[in-house]
Amino acid sequence: MAHKVTLIPGDGIGPEVTRATVRILEATGVKIDWEMVNAGASAYEKTGEYIPKELIESIERTGLGLKGPITTPIGGGFASINVALRRKFELYANFRPIKSLPSLPTRFPDVDLVIVRENTEGEYSGIEHEVVPGVVEALKIITEKASTRIARFAFEYARREKRAKISAIHKANIMKMSDGLFLRCCRDIAKEYPEIPYAEHIIDNTCMQLVMNPYQYDTLVMENLYGDIISDLCAAFVGGLGLVPGANLGDGCAIFEAVHGSAPDIAGKDMANPTALLQSAVLMLRHLREVEAADRIYAALEKTYKEKKHNTRDVGGTSGTTEFADAIIENMEAVAVVS
Ligand code: NAI
Repeated sequence: MAHKVTLIPGDGIGPEVTRATVRILEATGVKIDWEMVNAGASAYEKTGEYIPKELIESIERTGLGLKGPITTPIGGGFASINVALRRKFELYANFRPIKSLPSLPTRFPDVDLVIVRENTEGEYSGIEHEVVPGVVEALKIITEKASTRIARFAFEYARREKRAKISAIHKANIMKMSDGLFLRCCRDIAKEYPEIPYAEHIIDNTCMQLVMNPYQYDTLVMENLYGDIISDLCAAFVGGLGLVPGANLGDGCAIFEAVHGSAPDIAGKDMANPTALLQSAVLMLRHLREVEAADRIYAALEKTYKEKKHNTRDVGGTSGTTEFADAIIENMEAVAVVS
């Protein structure tokens, strides 16, 4: 039976990387029944809604989404559609594996980090108001419920995947109550997993330590904003934002999307690297237990990067989105013959 998946192409480079990814998924032979409904600026132009009712209904039906990036205006305009979707479907865990691909020249080889980011609260609560002219207050919400839930997610993942250790990243030296609560929840959950080494690190020092030596970390769990920033920093270890996938996971619903945004600087030019969304789709296939197809795409991805002939510009090549996707499809046949 075909898997039902809601497909959200998004804005900017979203439609290009989505098209490439869907072509590759279709070449695996896995049967997917796509329900395509857009959100964001492109949806607004057509329907007058940033999150069309049809999209909510589709995700409620499928419980599964593959999503391109959505542009969010800076310093005004509508609130983030991404944050709204994560909250609406209680996608409380943002899971971002940062793993080196072969043959890409980066400062550090063989990086294998995992970022587990709380996805529903913190500074992203979006509660801001002007107290008096010239003074604005923003509320950072930290709850025991969400902090415990994300800590448990991180430890369960680490136990299942036999990860080496967990580091909780915080600023509890300054934000004693809010980050203090987050840290207390992590500490309490850590006690239930005595076999997993657990440590706590202050966010600013963590940034420096990561850049000096990323191998000293393994799985990092943190609040929403810290996770957003650290994800981009760590993306640089493996070749940049064009590569890093992500999953927004809740109980009974999941939306897979790249870490990167809509990249307006290269949109519509067939220049974007589709690897990040493709790797997000590989995570989705594993979630659907389509392990053989996921392995085949990953093997083709590794082979394509090893060949160095079809790299996109962000990783030092000259190929476009379409040519890169063509190479993956061709290599999927080659790896299928070998295996
Ligand atoms: P961005 O991630 O869109 O771009 C940052 C830099 O990375 C740009 O130079 C861009 O060209 C490059 N880049 C990103 N993805 C790439 C890819 N696949 N291939 C090659 N190069 C790539 O971040 P920026 O410019 O800060 O944000 C643009 C818009 O995207 C904003 O409106 C932001 O709010 C939104 N955004 C949406 C996200 C989502 O939908 N999940 C996540 C992050 C940002």
